Amino acid sequence: MTSALFSPIRLADLELANRIAVSPMCQYSADDGVASDWHIGHLGMLANSGAAMLVVEATGIERRGRITHGCLGLYSDDCEAALARLVAHCRRYGTAKLGIQLAHAGRKASARRPWEGAQPLSATDDPWETIAPSPIPFGPDWPIPREMTSADMARVRDGFVNAAKRAVRAGIDAIELHGAHGYLLHSFVSPISNKRGDEYGGLLEARMRYPLEIARAVRAAIPKGMPLGARITGNDWVEGGLTPDDAAAFARALKHAGLDFVCISSGGISTDSRPTLVANTNVEFAERVKREAGIATRTVGLIATPKQAEAIVAEGKADMVALARAMLDNPHWGWHAARALGADVVRPPQYQRAAPKVWAGATYRD
Ligand SMILES: Cc1cc2nc3c(=O)[nH]c(=O)nc-3n(C[C@H](O)[C@H](O)[C@H](O)COP(=O)(O)O)c2cc1C
Repeated sequence: MTSALFSPIRLADLELANRIAVSPMCQYSADDGVASDWHIGHLGMLANSGAAMLVVEATGIERRGRITHGCLGLYSDDCEAALARLVAHCRRYGTAKLGIQLAHAGRKASARRPWEGAQPLSATDDPWETIAPSPIPFGPDWPIPREMTSADMARVRDGFVNAAKRAVRAGIDAIELHGAHGYLLHSFVSPISNKRGDEYGGLLEARMRYPLEIARAVRAAIPKGMPLGARITGNDWVEGGLTPDDAAAFARALKHAGLDFVCISSGGISTDSRPTLVANTNVEFAERVKREAGIATRTVGLIATPKQAEAIVAEGKADMVALARAMLDNPHWGWHAARALGADVVRPPQYQRAAPKVWAGATYRD
């Protein structure tokens, strides 16, 4: 049996041993953007999940681009030094290649951690001013963001470039721009949140302009062979919002801007968004993007079992899959998937004695 999920894939100059990625997952455990020991434990563990690629959580390119006070950032020398230590740790002890998701939370910034309610920070929580394409709040209980000026747009564009350069210096293998879940870049593309009257608002082509400028600027700032991708939305799940057609058009434009891959997610543009949360939520959008944009396509969302992931790749619906909660539930998900699909996966030498070939217990079932 040959597994499609465990076949290699190349993104730019980066060889990946299989098609599995650990999806970026905010840990809300940083201090002014600086990674903590929690990140060493968390990412060190997931660097040995069997996934070929581990993507570091949404990382704010400026302080005000963080979602919460605990979000990771890459806007200071301290942030960079901590990321470099984290990358060195994961590289020394783990098997995965390391990506990072660069992000700006836009109008969804200045919020509480999920376990503190995920609502906007109140006046006593040290809140900060949020920025967005247009002064439209994320929802009824959210503050009105300030409409970005051309100076804001230049600063944020430079912020993405500088953070990308910091990520390269820290030893990261791949960069992913966060263009989904209602955060700043998505909020420029979506007609729900972008009502600008200048050249960055109006038709899709104009709404994509700013994210594409950022994509091109980052592309020009990082090594040619380093994969650059973006997570984008397959569907806003709200009347008048972005559709799978728009996702295909955006992916085509990103490919033209020099990107090597996209990851198709959905939802999060406003409190009115009503995603249909079923298994393989975003697979049909990914299939469409892959076919119409001709760019390496990953998808994410309610993918949990090895057979499910194998079918998505084997049937050509996506080139790669990303898993989030399934990896938290089972940090060696990739090892178990390899066993289920009759494939090989690389393990650190310290744990090789638990490989199915040498450990009879792997076959025991209750
Ligand atoms: C704890 C947690 C943190 C998350 N943080 C991020 C993030 O930093 N960036 C992002 O694009 N998605 C984030 N997500 C969304 C996941 O990457 C993923 O798209 C979503 O959970 C659906 O995939 P799943 O069904 O495999 O969990 C997060 C999800 C979880 C559970």
